[in-house]
Amino acid sequence: MPSEIAARDRLIVALDLPGVGPAEAMITRLGDSVTFYKIGYQLAFAGGLPLVRQLAAAGKKVFADLKLHDIGNTVARGVESVAALGATFLTVHAYPQTMKAAVEARAGSGLKILAVTVLTSYDDDDLQAAGYRLAASDLVEARARQAQAQGVDGLVCSPEEAAGLRKMIGHQMDLVTPGIRPVGSAAGDQKRIMTPARAISAGADYLVVGRPVIDAADPRAAADAIQAEILQALA
Ligand code: C5P
Repeated sequence: MPSEIAARDRLIVALDLPGVGPAEAMITRLGDSVTFYKIGYQLAFAGGLPLVRQLAAAGKKVFADLKLHDIGNTVARGVESVAALGATFLTVHAYPQTMKAAVEARAGSGLKILAVTVLTSYDDDDLQAAGYRLAASDLVEARARQAQAQGVDGLVCSPEEAAGLRKMIGHQMDLVTPGIRPVGSAAGDQKRIMTPARAISAGADYLVVGRPVIDAADPRAAADAIQAEILQALA
């Protein structure tokens, strides 16, 4: 339940960095300002997966953003390996077989499965080109309902989707939102952005923030400012 989440754990800093050296340097700079990190394709495929174990041993939480999707048996074995690393969150694509396999395989571990409903870079035309007949918003809703029915622990969604999804799924699932931009920071390639405070008010449980922290002149100050904004929004 969202109310049980420690305020400091709601900020997840995306370690979108090219290797273990820069990632470790960033983790050291951020110190106790950040308790939760996300490791995605870039770092994971550059030798970063052992960092999951290292961070977990240091008392931090890790979101392995690996967006798994394969036949059920392969997904299940992958999920077991990620659980053994000590990760807290793992993403899978929101296909029924994939979600079912992932949820079954994480049983008994501390790992939570997050479903990616529809990638936020996809619009209705992209979906049609990929062979889907549903509009993006309808597919998000259908997949969110399937995820809930499968016992998936949470959803990755844009901050704009958070309020609607929260209404639909209640408080059983965690909503994790990227696309967060503190006032005054560059949007970069993100199109549908929200400030940390607005995203929390919209119902997001966790905020994923990359460049506004890791590209800041003072990453620790940037993280502290977001933590303060989250605290204020929760008050
Ligand atoms: O740098 P920025 O704050 O935009 O980073 C956001 C992070 O969230 C990136 O690691 C990106 O891959 C991830 N993400 C996203 N949109 C999604 C899913 C994940 O921006 N729909």
